[in-house]
Amino acid sequence: MIDVFMDTYHRLPVLFSSGEGVWLTDNCGKRYLDFTSGIAVNCLGHRYPALVHAIEEQALKKLLHVSNYYQSDTSLHFAQRLVEACAPVGMKKVFLANSGAEANEGACKIARKYSLKKYGEGRHTIVSLKGSFHGRTITTLSATGQERFHRDFGPFTEGFKFVQPGDIKALDQALDMTVCGLIIEVIQGESGVIPQDPAYLEAAVQFCAERDILLICDEIQCGVGRTGTFLACEAYGIRPDIVTLAKGLAGGIPIGAVLAGEKAADVLQIGDHGSTFGGNPLAAAAGTIVLKTVHTPSFLQDIKRKGALIQETIESWKHKNIKAVRVRGLMVGVDMVGEAWPLLEYALDQGLLILSAGVCTLRLLPPYIIEEEELRDGLAILRSVIDNDTIPPR
Ligand SMILES: Cc1ncc(COP(=O)(O)O)c(C=O)c1O
Repeated sequence: MIDVFMDTYHRLPVLFSSGEGVWLTDNCGKRYLDFTSGIAVNCLGHRYPALVHAIEEQALKKLLHVSNYYQSDTSLHFAQRLVEACAPVGMKKVFLANSGAEANEGACKIARKYSLKKYGEGRHTIVSLKGSFHGRTITTLSATGQERFHRDFGPFTEGFKFVQPGDIKALDQALDMTVCGLIIEVIQGESGVIPQDPAYLEAAVQFCAERDILLICDEIQCGVGRTGTFLACEAYGIRPDIVTLAKGLAGGIPIGAVLAGEKAADVLQIGDHGSTFGGNPLAAAAGTIVLKTVHTPSFLQDIKRKGALIQETIESWKHKNIKAVRVRGLMVGVDMVGEAWPLLEYALDQGLLILSAGVCTLRLLPPYIIEEEELRDGLAILRSVIDNDTIPPR
């Protein structure tokens, strides 16, 4: 095979050809149970009939794209529905983009302009948390609180600083007169499914409100129902100024969204920001199905129920190779005594797709539509993979 791709991914040895529900099939016909959802993207599984139908109808009978100098009915309806879904945490308006990194770029621009217009120069710093992940563009890498991403690509965007999650005193000190924004994943995904301490978030909200600093919740991985509420921040009872979404929002079609509440909804004005494809009708048609399906109390409740089943099952193993398990809906982190990555290859061999996060954490992000029996089958394979784990402790 000619190697045409740049070597950016540590890819596992498999070539997928098709998918249905929670199953993927490789080019040799072997089937795999998907506990990854394409890293929280295929939230309705593969080839979800209503999603496929909406994409087909949009492409066959309506239109794929119009410039953002005009509006399409599909994109308008999607945007209205999305803002409505995020209204419980105070969101009022949305800007649609194509990816998570782009959504966070938009959020940083809003925080900076909000502050500049109100307070003038010198208040452009954005505080972020250690262990966070916010994207791969130069600015979102600059916002990412993990040293390993801060190599080779400098100079980075100026004006980001990092604090230890959970340390309220350090946060209090960091949020000084130079700061316009605080960006937080309420559940850190890439570093190991690590939920923020509620008291810490409460303090963050209070400091931001007192100092007129915009609080940005990056819900790109934990949002869109993943944790059993439409937004993960809802479960904490907080109202951020900005929320960013992407990944599962259109069930597999590229999309990103920056939502803003009262303070920030009108910061961006004509000419300030834009995107050729952002919110295009095809993505919006797909996104509408995701919202219709996911944003109902019974569907969200079912995600919580499935999460509880995962937690119960893994905890019942009392396995010597497992140090801890953290479950929020269908977002699961399992801390192993040794490195997680080698287990992914063995699981693949056994017909199960799982992810790692950080060095020693296994991450499970199953599609929301997974049936209880499929969940149990996948967990049984996971158990056998962990039983077989001979990787030395770290
Ligand atoms: C929390 C979070 N923010 C931002 C991103 C970047 O999203 P994208 O890869 O769509 O640019 C990711 C991707 O993993 C993420 O998990």
